[in-house]
Amino acid sequence: MQVYEIKKDIFWVGAVDWLVRDFHGYSTYRGSTYNAYLMLGEKNVLFDTVKHNLCSDLVHRIRTVIDPEKIDYIVVNHVEMDHTGSLPKIVEMVKPEKIICSKMGHKNLLSHFHKPDWPYHIIENNESIPVGNRTIQFMETRMLHWPDSMFSYIPEEKLLISQDGFGQHLGTSERFDDEVDLSELMYQAKKYYANILYLYSPQVRKLLDHVAEIGLEVDMIAPDHGVIWRTHIDKILQAYRDWSSHKAAKKALVVYDTMWHSTEMMAKAVADGIESTGTSMQLLDLSVNHRSDVMAELLDAKGICLGCPTLNNGLLPRMAGYLMYMKGLRPARKLGAAFGSFGWSGESVKHMNKAMEEMKFELIHEGIKVKYVPTHDDLKKCWELGKLMGEKVKEAVDNQ
Ligand code: FEO
Repeated sequence: MQVYEIKKDIFWVGAVDWLVRDFHGYSTYRGSTYNAYLMLGEKNVLFDTVKHNLCSDLVHRIRTVIDPEKIDYIVVNHVEMDHTGSLPKIVEMVKPEKIICSKMGHKNLLSHFHKPDWPYHIIENNESIPVGNRTIQFMETRMLHWPDSMFSYIPEEKLLISQDGFGQHLGTSERFDDEVDLSELMYQAKKYYANILYLYSPQVRKLLDHVAEIGLEVDMIAPDHGVIWRTHIDKILQAYRDWSSHKAAKKALVVYDTMWHSTEMMAKAVADGIESTGTSMQLLDLSVNHRSDVMAELLDAKGICLGCPTLNNGLLPRMAGYLMYMKGLRPARKLGAAFGSFGWSGESVKHMNKAMEEMKFELIHEGIKVKYVPTHDDLKKCWELGKLMGEKVKEAVDNQ
């Protein structure tokens, strides 16, 4: 089995999931990886494991380097099952001297695996453990994105093992950032942030400030998903700074669903209006765009126009689902507007406006409702709405 020595005596021994296409509701059309790292020394340390169905990949890779029974410590940086699914089998096989985790990690491991007799070693935030001529420093990163999450830092190697932080759902035969297409990599990192970390942006900012303050020297960031950062570290750190501070581009989205194409006609007119201002625009039909891809586009967009007809006094289910998903991820500082067709009651615009108000979006318009099929004049109004959005976006981004 192929392993990769990422630093002297530190090996990538994880698994590539070429098959996964849905990660708890997040579309992973490029697959993913579950990265685990094995550090050899006076004590042999395994950092994280992999999803349960890929446990044998992990075991065979470890076996390529050492006999698994020679592993002394297992570090659990994050309890979510994509990283601990193999833990029970690995613990049984390895019989580790210590399972190192945070206080919350301990609680969560107990709640997941119900094994009070495992050899837990609970470390405090910022505690260090010597392992021969190297040290592991643990840094709790609570709510990034679970209460148990932490980073492991090896100062002698300037290596940060960052669990989900800086990850990407990108299954590849390459292990490093400079071996893959950079624009695809940055898109996957952005999509990961938008769908996993967006709501914890205040904690991300705090962590980045803390890391800068203590002058943490890092020349490699090894996340638990995707490729390892060694060449574009500044780029991903700057991207995390921008995303966590809600920095936006001159870009607006038109996100819609439609029943008999009336709302689609309105969406296209709104889109043309935005385009007329020179603001970048994306027209995203929810029937063909996955909500997690829409979130990736929303991350750096300043404006969003939502379109949906009325169904049974409410919204079409895809729009209702998208609104619930978006709300949970807490996008901030967006400009919003709504539009939609209706037959007799026409509540959809009201529902979309309410959802955007709850997210504290600034509504730039009261919204446009059209009975059944839009006339040319109705479409003109939609075009004007788009134009207004495009202009407001440019103004807001110029002043940010
Ligand atoms: Fe990759 Fe939060 O697990």
